[in-house]
Amino acid sequence: MTAALKALSSIISKSNIDFLKAPKKLLIDGKWVPAASGSTFGVTNPATGEVIAQVAEGDREDVDRAVKAARRALEDGDWSRMTPSERGKLIWRIGDLISKYKEELAELEALDNGKPISVARAADVPLSADMFHYMAGWATKNEGKTIPLSVLYTPGARYHSYTRPEPVGVVGQIIPWNFPLLMAAWKLAPVLATGCTVVLKVAEETPLSALRLGEILLEAGLPDGVVNIITGFGETAGAALASHPGVEKVAFTGSTEVGKLIVKAAANDLKKVTLELGGKSPNIVLADADLDVAIPGAASAIFFNHGQCCCAGSRLYVEKKVFDRVVEGVAEYAKKIKVGPGLEPGTEMGPMVSPVQHERVGSYLESGLKEGAKAVAGGKKREGKGYFIDPTVLVDTKPAMKVIREEIFGPVVCAMPFNGLDADIVRQANDTIYGLAAGVWTRDLSKAHTLAAQLKAGTVWINCYNIFDSALPFGGYKQSGWGREMGEAVLNNYPETKPVTVRL
Ligand code: NAI
Ligand code: MG
Repeated sequence: MTAALKALSSIISKSNIDFLKAPKKLLIDGKWVPAASGSTFGVTNPATGEVIAQVAEGDREDVDRAVKAARRALEDGDWSRMTPSERGKLIWRIGDLISKYKEELAELEALDNGKPISVARAADVPLSADMFHYMAGWATKNEGKTIPLSVLYTPGARYHSYTRPEPVGVVGQIIPWNFPLLMAAWKLAPVLATGCTVVLKVAEETPLSALRLGEILLEAGLPDGVVNIITGFGETAGAALASHPGVEKVAFTGSTEVGKLIVKAAANDLKKVTLELGGKSPNIVLADADLDVAIPGAASAIFFNHGQCCCAGSRLYVEKKVFDRVVEGVAEYAKKIKVGPGLEPGTEMGPMVSPVQHERVGSYLESGLKEGAKAVAGGKKREGKGYFIDPTVLVDTKPAMKVIREEIFGPVVCAMPFNGLDADIVRQANDTIYGLAAGVWTRDLSKAHTLAAQLKAGTVWINCYNIFDSALPFGGYKQSGWGREMGEAVLNNYPETKPVTVRL
């Protein structure tokens, strides 16, 4: 056992210590196999920087084997012969097993990603289970329509037309590290419900919970090759998957920058693409809001998951009359957050996921302060062990600053005052290349719904924030993405719709 594992063994369960001890392999065609190159890489605990597991470093050849396995499973396996009801029950079972292994999965998530175990227990793991449970019900509802025709140029002829939703084929999915298990669930569950097969490339920073999920898929009885899981790096394994000619569709969640690379890679053979990308979401507090709710709400809109949320409420617009009070309240909240290792009891915010993200967020803070912003809470990254950042509230920002224009993806909120509800606040809120989410805090129904309609964002939350449900579609306007995840809407991502017309 490595020193890091030994140190951990007092705080995490035996099953996880055992899971971490064996080198982790790729899931291809129902079997755990090493990378073709034999290479592995270390996965670290971001609270300490210590290596906690060795993982196979998949690359082009492994992706190719996985795509071939997914093709076989799609075309002639037990999967295509399974009835919708059997498929639905299997997907439900996956949800049940995630619930059964809840504690183990929450520990892995806290260890690998750095998030507080309380958050993984309350959000990541139950939401992941629920995504499979919710999608299980759709497996029996992949219905077509009968469509009455009035073909004008064949008078008197009668036709019978109906549509068949058919699986788009082999799907390549690439996911990030901020909600490792949940992103895998969001991606895999609808693929299974629509009868596709998949190669999933998980984030190099946080592969562990998805690998444990791979074991769960096999335990649930998923036929070989339906889900293949590749660990490896973006520029190698990810790029190979996005450009593989045997993949019909790519679904990606991550940075807008890489989203554009995915589109280019997929363009070669015109794969279908859906993208869930970055954000710079406005959160608007009106003077009439219930500030006892809005202040902690605005704080948790940015500080939940350390600000490592694509929909984080990172631009906080507050009506002038209440600006000082709200900023003071959010700053107080920020100062009280208990920052520490995710597995330590009582931790409310963990470290950034990696040294790269730690540096990145730190350099945004430096640039903001250099350009004239002022920190009323936090303002710097911590040095020493672990990748911690102090929860930060910036004021005195200008619209052209990098901290206002770019996604920081850390616990940093920029608060700005505005004068009353006029067209200008809508213009400011929409003045971004992104359009993922927005928040509005007010007691005035009319103002709330007027703003909800005017904000160019895929999701609007009123007097709440970060409310997710498997049944609600989620996705972005503008450069925040293409298509929607979750809800009935995600089912548009995976089937092809084929009309069949018969002359009677
Ligand atoms: P990223 O977009 O590079 O990584 C996301 C996934 O894409 C990972 O699995 C990675 O291996 C893969 N990937 C990277 N390059 C690829 C390529 N050329 N071809 C195919 N796959 C590739 O995000 P990263 O570098 O981890 O974080 C950078 C920034 O991206 C963050 O600071 C944040 O602003 C944003 N981000 C947004 C997320 C969201 O949920 N919308 C999630 C993660 C990051
Ligand atoms: Mg990257």
